[in-house]
Amino acid sequence: MSQEVDFIVIPVHELSMEQQTRINEARESVFGKDAGIADFHAHFGAGAMCLLLGSSPEPAPAGASVVNWRAFCIVREMPPIRVQSDEFPCVGVCSVISLVPGQGYGKQLMTMVRDFVSHRYPLHQALGFTGATNFFKQCDGWQVAPGLISRFVFVHPETLEPELDDDGDAFFLALPHGGGNRLIEAVEAIPAPLDLERRAVIRIPFW
Ligand SMILES: CC(C)(COP(=O)(O)OP(=O)(O)OC[C@H]1O[C@@H](n2cnc3c(N)ncnc32)[C@H](O)[C@@H]1OP(=O)(O)O)[C@@H](O)C(=O)NCCC(=O)NCCS
Repeated sequence: MSQEVDFIVIPVHELSMEQQTRINEARESVFGKDAGIADFHAHFGAGAMCLLLGSSPEPAPAGASVVNWRAFCIVREMPPIRVQSDEFPCVGVCSVISLVPGQGYGKQLMTMVRDFVSHRYPLHQALGFTGATNFFKQCDGWQVAPGLISRFVFVHPETLEPELDDDGDAFFLALPHGGGNRLIEAVEAIPAPLDLERRAVIRIPFW
């Protein structure tokens, strides 16, 4: 059972070196030794935020901020995603990592991410890609679309280089107001064959 935790939002450009090291250690331990990030600002882009679940030490020193990290993710507003001739506002969710797996912190984090995103970006579709599909199926408000990543292409905004990753599921937040699932419905409706020209375009480097 998870203990009481705080939910903290830190803009990525304000992460301390210590916090960046902690994120890189976590990424390397779950995604592999090449998953460390050298330049957080360049990697995640302007406006990215680290959403962090953690607890203060007992007894908490005066003015202590969160010290014991439990789970975190990165959230960023993306350039609108283009599907055929339509554009959809979108918030990307990535690097969802639990530092204390199996204690409920992952689910707790995603509930807080749901509330944060739905208040701050009520008209955006929150979207991420994953292999941990069974986890996201259990998160309140989040849904999963198997294999949906194969309907997208990441296009680097400067080099225009396309990048594909056809192995993964999408997780997304279906808001009862705002845009609802319009993006997901449009992506699912793209007719075959799914060649490059038809895919939904994400105008940032693959994350
Ligand atoms: C996925 C992850 C964030 C889950 O965090 P967690 O703190 O262990 O999750 P919880 O304890 O809240 O577990 C919630 C439920 O999901 C299940 N679950 C946890 N991790 C899972 C995974 N990788 N695959 C499938 N199910 C998983 C748990 O069994 C639990 O089910 P239960 O309530 O029936 O027991 C964590 O396993 C992790 O950091 N994985 C590596 C990084 C990753 O793959 N991130 C996702 C894509 S960016």
